[in-house]
Amino acid sequence: MPIHEIRHPLVRHKIGLMREGDVSTKKFRELTAEIARLLAYEACKDFPLETVEIDGWAGPVRIERIKGKKVTVVPILRAGLGMLDGVLDMVPSAKVSVVGIARDEETLQPVPYFEKFVGQLDERMALIIDPMLATGGSLAATVDMLKRKGCRQVRALVLVAAPEGIALMNAQHPDVDIFTASIDSHLDGQGYIIPGLGDAGDKIFGTR
Ligand code: PRP
Ligand code: URA
Repeated sequence: MPIHEIRHPLVRHKIGLMREGDVSTKKFRELTAEIARLLAYEACKDFPLETVEIDGWAGPVRIERIKGKKVTVVPILRAGLGMLDGVLDMVPSAKVSVVGIARDEETLQPVPYFEKFVGQLDERMALIIDPMLATGGSLAATVDMLKRKGCRQVRALVLVAAPEGIALMNAQHPDVDIFTASIDSHLDGQGYIIPGLGDAGDKIFGTR
């Protein structure tokens, strides 16, 4: 099942607050980070564990820890940066790869302008982060870049997903699981998600 809509009450509540028309930059940023933590928690829930023995306060104790999982978090500039600290709170040892993609406002096509990947991508799970999955062009282009570099395990965390973007990802990258706080209704004529959040990058960076 490639799309996972996280219907936890905390997530439902927080995404609702983000939809307020006059939400402040501070509040929007805080909610972005909070939901990012919760999506990361869900996206990691099947990571394998191993049992090891350590010296505890009362002697040897067997504990569980995540088994050999190497992760790279991949924010799509700019708006994906708003989710980065929240995801790193949950996966603090992850390395960070950065992809810059701007959506052409006329054609809605993704225009890549920057990439800097960490090493050993063939051994890592990539967690792509971007608040908005609209046409899906930006996410699909990022997955293309990662796969070209040898990455074989990719997941995506998005605050809001449009059916159009989900359909594109299902067609081009059916192996990529997507974790979202909300599957919304549709795209408008300018490619904005309805009801959506508006321009997430502008709201996170205060450029609206
Ligand atoms: C937004 C958003 C996604 C993309 C989604 O970024 O953060 O990256 O659009 O649209 P798509 O699914 O149709 O490709 P934008 O290009 O506006 O850049 P920004 O992050 O700098 O605001
Ligand atoms: N990018 C955004 O920031 N919002 C949308 O609704 C679509 C693309």
